[in-house]
Amino acid sequence: MAQKGQSAAQSGGPHFSGKVLEGKAVPAHSFSAIAAAIGRSVPPSDRPIVCVQGLGFVGAAMALAVADARDPRTGQPRFDVIGVELPTPDGRAKVDAVNVGDLPVRSADPKMSDAMSRARRTGNLIAVTNDEVYGLASVAVVDVHLDLLLDDGRPTVRYDGLITAVRMVSQRLPVGGLIIVETTVPPGTCDRVLGPEIDREAARRGLKCDELLLAHSYERVMPGSDYFDSIVNFWRVFSGRSQEAADACERFLSQVVNTEKYPLTRLPSTTASEMAKVLENSYRAATIAFMEEWGRFAEEINVDLMEVVNAIRKRPTHSNIRQPGFGVGGYCLTKDPLFADVAARDLFGLPPTVDFPFCHRAVATNRAMPIRCLDRLDRLLGGLRGKRLLLLGVSYRQDVADTRFSPSEDFLREAEARGASVQCHDPLVVHWPEVNRQLATALPHPHGADAVVFAVQHREYQEMDVLAWLGAHRPLVFDGNGVLTRTQRSFLHTAGIRVFSIGRGEEAPL
Ligand SMILES: NC(=O)c1ccc[n+]([C@@H]2O[C@H](COP(=O)([O-])OP(=O)(O)OC[C@H]3O[C@@H](n4cnc5c(N)ncnc54)[C@H](O)[C@@H]3O)[C@@H](O)[C@H]2O)c1
Repeated sequence: MAQKGQSAAQSGGPHFSGKVLEGKAVPAHSFSAIAAAIGRSVPPSDRPIVCVQGLGFVGAAMALAVADARDPRTGQPRFDVIGVELPTPDGRAKVDAVNVGDLPVRSADPKMSDAMSRARRTGNLIAVTNDEVYGLASVAVVDVHLDLLLDDGRPTVRYDGLITAVRMVSQRLPVGGLIIVETTVPPGTCDRVLGPEIDREAARRGLKCDELLLAHSYERVMPGSDYFDSIVNFWRVFSGRSQEAADACERFLSQVVNTEKYPLTRLPSTTASEMAKVLENSYRAATIAFMEEWGRFAEEINVDLMEVVNAIRKRPTHSNIRQPGFGVGGYCLTKDPLFADVAARDLFGLPPTVDFPFCHRAVATNRAMPIRCLDRLDRLLGGLRGKRLLLLGVSYRQDVADTRFSPSEDFLREAEARGASVQCHDPLVVHWPEVNRQLATALPHPHGADAVVFAVQHREYQEMDVLAWLGAHRPLVFDGNGVLTRTQRSFLHTAGIRVFSIGRGEEAPL
């Protein structure tokens, strides 16, 4: 282990008592030695090593973005990057994918695979399931998950996984190393939970508290068609536990993010930047929920709410007004609005007068949207028992393969509970883990369907010729997410197909 004041590399590096890829004990003191241990021949380099902890939807893209960062003068990569995962089947699969040059998560963004190809050619991105590599890192980026739990309806989090993850880093990170927490956390987590944990590990190593630097900078990753750019070509907020940590974080991010076009915003404390992330997502969840009641109203009085919304969007101050939809899913908007409540109670011990009714209402309203769609379909079909539905889109948003907390899951479960049989399709999802279903990649034939439900705005659905696909079949078409254009809907209507959309009455001729 590195002595105080020495980097791990200077001290000869850690000897790998564990496994890099399971089953190998490897003495490794450099990036190229670790690469060699996993069968990759990479020329030695003196580039700083960045470890990205967690290769999920955020960590995978961040690891690629850091590996892709180049010195503009020389065109040479700035960093060697090691992705670190848990030694679980899922973690190993992600590690294996990276090490053979595949993306560890599915993506429809060609820039992701381009960046992976460049990293493969350069040889500056590898992945392991071994925590000892943190002993070589200048920077460790924490991209692990932190789940929200409902304890008798009360939101709470269990910090164990995140604390263990940060402990693994702080037990090994060389002196002066920087830990950047990108995981979305209740405001106050770095200051009250992770910082003290790092201090304890530093003390055990005989280091002073400020010899390991802690910063917070959240991702605004959008794992769709702009996945890669949402990291490198987008604005970032950051903060440090100390001035030195904030400065180090700023230096690092400036080498990865296009800060000339997208300047960084520094906030004065980690609690402030943690709050910025949570508030940002709460705002989005609340504005979506707000539209739900207008959607219901518009459907009843036969007004096209989408046209109303587009008219309002012309006003610059209202250009981001949302529209009603099939629901709000994914790992972030379903939990982040409740993190403030967790922080107020569990981290700051504030009284119940500091409450978050909008956030709670927004999460509940958004969660109920797919069931509301199903209720409407139930009425339109005169009951669901024995009906055959074709559900198009099961991921939580367009052009992503992520099915976590997908509105389609609630729709499917409830439709089946009401006696319908549901065939599902998604161009990006082969296996739907939450319901343990294999999905056909080819669009199913509409034969025998009573209703076709468009749930997700995947490009494939927006570009399909629905009328040609339906042929002689005439199921009810339910557009739950603004997938079909007015012209498409009108063609369907003219062909004798009943078309209904969320936020609109029944389709009428143009
Ligand atoms: N998904 C998004 O679009 C998005 C956007 C912005 C922010 N976030 C936030 O980023 C964080 C990560 O989200 P995600 O979607 O990438 O989650 P994810 O579940 O896809 O990935 C997390 C990964 O971390 C790994 N992991 C957990 N503990 C580990 C450890 N100790 N060492 C190494 N690996 C470990 C897990 O195996 C998993 O692969 C969350 O806090 C999320 O709220 C997500």
